[in-house]
Amino acid sequence: MDVSSKIAQWQADSAPGDRLADVASDAEDCRRCPLYQDATHLVFGEGNDDARVLLVGEQPGDKEDLAARPFIGPAGRLLDMCLEEAGIDRGLCYVTNAVKHFKFTPRGKRRIHAKPNTGEIKACAWWLNAERRLIKPRLTVALGATAAYSLLGPKAKVTRDRGQVLKSMDGSEVLMTIHPSYLLRLPDPADREREKTRFVDDLRRIGAYLG
Ligand code: URA
Repeated sequence: MDVSSKIAQWQADSAPGDRLADVASDAEDCRRCPLYQDATHLVFGEGNDDARVLLVGEQPGDKEDLAARPFIGPAGRLLDMCLEEAGIDRGLCYVTNAVKHFKFTPRGKRRIHAKPNTGEIKACAWWLNAERRLIKPRLTVALGATAAYSLLGPKAKVTRDRGQVLKSMDGSEVLMTIHPSYLLRLPDPADREREKTRFVDDLRRIGAYLG
């Protein structure tokens, strides 16, 4: 099988099931990659089953892992602020992650975020693809490189494509943008403000799909 067929396959393969709640419950026993071993919870997506817009982050963070809910920690609060500024109601969207278990490196009592690798992203696309298959959103928003890789494959580049709506292998539309934690990592307040404005501008594009 050539590379693009392989990519098409992992982007199409999805967990079986006709109801999101059943898929979410099956996901709790996920052993598709080793990340379940150290995580507290599998963090499935949340929101409307018939949402027109699906937001995809990277993976749950420390707070999300403990609460079993996506985007409720610092990156989630920033995402909420930026969505509000863009005039988007998070309650109308479905929010999830490309990888459903928290990957971290222990440092003393702290758990430091570790980036999921391509094997983990591909293994977890099984659940993300099921969410997309059942919700059938008009627009999927890739928040950062991990989500972009899962949704569009290795050719998508956040720095080059951010703010654009691209077509995924299944023909559905994907808005590319940055991950909100990128803003949290910027040390210079002026850079942070400028990049936040660009992020809000990207998010404004969601409005056309909700109406
Ligand atoms: N970062 C993510 O990508 N997802 C979350 O749920 C929280 C932080």
